[in-house]
Amino acid sequence: MNNTEIVEQTIAFVKETLQGAEGGHDWFHIQRVFNNTLLIAKEEKVDVLTVSLSALLHDIADAKFHDGDDTVGPKLALVFLSNLGVGKNTIQHVVKIIENISFKNSLERPDCIQFSSLELQVVQDADRLDAMGAIGIARAFNYGGFKNRQLYNPSIAPKLNQTKEAYKNSNAPTINHFYEKLLLLKDKMNTATGKKLAEARHQFMLDYLEQFYKEWNPLGIKG
Ligand code: ADP
Ligand code: NI
Repeated sequence: MNNTEIVEQTIAFVKETLQGAEGGHDWFHIQRVFNNTLLIAKEEKVDVLTVSLSALLHDIADAKFHDGDDTVGPKLALVFLSNLGVGKNTIQHVVKIIENISFKNSLERPDCIQFSSLELQVVQDADRLDAMGAIGIARAFNYGGFKNRQLYNPSIAPKLNQTKEAYKNSNAPTINHFYEKLLLLKDKMNTATGKKLAEARHQFMLDYLEQFYKEWNPLGIKG
């Protein structure tokens, strides 16, 4: 099987597996991350098959929906790629990338931080971009709705630098998530292209928040 066929088979597998997934983690999220990955990869000397497969498989089994078990996704990817006959080194690299990519892993799993590669950096940037800008805002409110959270509550302040447990169990309004995660992403970008794309999306979120508070408080009442 050539690389194009491998990628096509993987797309078909991911589309099938993610049928019925919630809106923030469905096939279209994967497609956007895949496209961002290819865009960034144009400017970086990376193995295109490795970044493509990693982007496509990075959310194949989100731990949030598997009782917090974050080994399900990497295992599923390993079995799928082995059955396709993908080379052993490529498979190992893709599995490492999937294990390391999520915001929570890179934040709270020091054992995971030990692995790094340019390929991981490219896919991580692509995934982070999808949590920013207009799409990032849509995903945040979609997730908040799914969890039945308030949009905003002026009396609940955002909490920075939370532990994994606190972040996971937080029932905070969705606007707080901007300060706890979304506005921090810009400074976590790895590649030059990722940084440039993140800049515009970051500014869009700042503009959005400004407009949000204006609409929330049309009389401009202080306090
Ligand atoms: P990642 O894909 O980096 O692992 P998550 O799975 O935690 O990130 O989040 C997926 C999407 O849901 C992102 O767009 C993220 O901003 C959003 N999200 C996650 N946690 C929250 C939250 N507490 N409030 C609002 N949106 C959230
Ligand atoms: Ni993702």
